Amino acid sequence: MPHTTPTANALQVQQRASLREFNSFGLPAVAATLVRLAAEADVRRVVDHPAYGVAPKFVLGGGSNVVLTRDFAGLVLKVEILGRRLLRTEREAWIVEAGAGENWHGFVAWTLQQGWPGLENLALIPGQVGAAPVQNIGAYGVELKDRFESLDAMDLITGRSVTLDAVACRFGYRDSVFKQHLAGKTVITRVRFRLPRPWQPVLGYLDLERKIAETGNAAPDAQTVFDWVCAIRRAKLPDPAVIGNAGSFFKNPVVSPEQCRDIIGRDPEVVHYLLPDGSCKLAAGWLIDACGWKGKTVGRAGVYDKQALVLVNRGGASGAEVVTLARAIQESVYGRFGIRLEPEPVIL
Ligand code: EPU
Repeated sequence: MPHTTPTANALQVQQRASLREFNSFGLPAVAATLVRLAAEADVRRVVDHPAYGVAPKFVLGGGSNVVLTRDFAGLVLKVEILGRRLLRTEREAWIVEAGAGENWHGFVAWTLQQGWPGLENLALIPGQVGAAPVQNIGAYGVELKDRFESLDAMDLITGRSVTLDAVACRFGYRDSVFKQHLAGKTVITRVRFRLPRPWQPVLGYLDLERKIAETGNAAPDAQTVFDWVCAIRRAKLPDPAVIGNAGSFFKNPVVSPEQCRDIIGRDPEVVHYLLPDGSCKLAAGWLIDACGWKGKTVGRAGVYDKQALVLVNRGGASGAEVVTLARAIQESVYGRFGIRLEPEPVIL
């Protein structure tokens, strides 16, 4: 039997733990118990624990898509499972795996350095690898589901590990089974990506077309696309290390063709994208901007001055203040356009 010290088998537990450092909004909240999960075995230890096994649980990744409005009386599970490797090279893809606790942007940069491009449009998205499938992150014409192979998740009641493919994950626009019927029931431990070869750039998004026009480079390599995406995001989106935020606060609403025609009739400028099924996606940032919210502050929460879709912590805000601001925005967008905006982050 290999010698193991008691601590090697023990869970890393902290009582009455501040979560302020662990959420990108910088909101104050306290977890009755914080458990760090460094390996799959730690999930089993939680499940088998007489008290922790039955306690309410909240899984925290990088904390970049959550609004904490209260203290949490149960167990906050902080996922810290690391590791990244090439699993195999197929004729038409590289299959790469990462631990759920890996930093997303670091992982994207690493795949490019290794010569396995494909994730460059998703550069600089805050958060961890394990959170990426939960809301099917997307940016600049690529969604996680377009590069997804499978993931491993563990059941928080039985401790059993399952592997789910894209169909089982039920990816939708900023949505998956992990935001629906598996919400709070599983913890994602590892994610595998399918990076198509030969690589082809995805350049159809307006902001990237502008970069092509600006630079005259119509055939950028993956590293150049990565650099462009980083520059675009830095110009528009606040760095959570400097200004607390959770990225886009609302989803872009999808409306029926009739509703879309009605809105265009009243506001011909409205930014909208036609979807294959005839419905229409509206730019929530534009709707909020049109209601005059950009740069506004309510209490200690505010609307970012370069992108109205992003709510920010102006310093010392509480989760309740962020939610109050969000409700006021929802009411004014509903009042003017008859559209209900749906928050993108998880509100606890
Ligand atoms: N717009 C305004 N005023 C604003 C903000 C936006 O008029 O204050 C207009 C823009 O001019 C543009 C349109 O709205 O014509 C769309 O804006 P943008 O291209 O910045 O994208 P978005 O729809 O606001 C979405 C994602 C982002 C992602 C970008 C790029 C959602 C909810 N958000 O934002 O994702 O980075 O596209 O692909 O789908 C995130 O989810 O946290 C996120 C940042």
